Amino acid sequence: MKIITLDGPAGAGKSSAAKLLASKLGWCHMDTGAMYRAVALAALQRNVSLENEKALAQLAAKIEIQFQSGLVLLNGEDISAEIRIDRVTAATRPVADAPSVREEMTTMQRNFSKKFNLVTEGRDQGTVVFPQAELKVYLDASPTARAARRYHERIVRGDTSCSVEQILDSQFKRDQGDKNRPVGAMEAAKDAIIIQTDGLTLENVVNHVLDLARVRGLTSN
Ligand code: C5P
Repeated sequence: MKIITLDGPAGAGKSSAAKLLASKLGWCHMDTGAMYRAVALAALQRNVSLENEKALAQLAAKIEIQFQSGLVLLNGEDISAEIRIDRVTAATRPVADAPSVREEMTTMQRNFSKKFNLVTEGRDQGTVVFPQAELKVYLDASPTARAARRYHERIVRGDTSCSVEQILDSQFKRDQGDKNRPVGAMEAAKDAIIIQTDGLTLENVVNHVLDLARVRGLTSN
């Protein structure tokens, strides 16, 4: 099946772009950050220690994650909202740092690609999981633009607990973790097209990627 990878840091606009792109192409949108979040949530629910890498990998191997009509399901249950709460975000770090959990997630992600054409978003999709992808895009943006986008997303969710400054601070720490992870670190693949999204609308970004997809013969319209 065909694959477009969208990697990059949090707040660069990956999720909205991946969703719209997938819907325009009629492909599946695979949110791999949501998959790591789902493992973290499952670990919290079952009291699996976040320091026990073996137990986390075993858990990752046995849960079922599905994407259905814009929802994320864990063993059939809608967890779309729960995986975004701060407690789960914090628990996602050790989960995503564990190489054997990443192996399980990589297998699950490759299995999805056997059944569906994918627009997949994450950190390591173009580098580790799908080095053969037909089109690789890396979305980036300035720290302030990313924090502003995150702030706006929180406000839309009715969450006014954080200032932009606090978001900037936690974003910096998260970036450090994402870039310095020994396996699956966040980086642009050598053959990725880098799009700086500051000042671009969602439509600008998606149209740019669609143009690239057309040039590569991934879409007829
Ligand atoms: O994209 P999102 O913020 O939902 O990702 C949650 C966490 O999962 C990120 O902080 C990142 O460290 C991790 N992640 C990852 N590999 C991916 C996608 C996300 O390590 N492919």
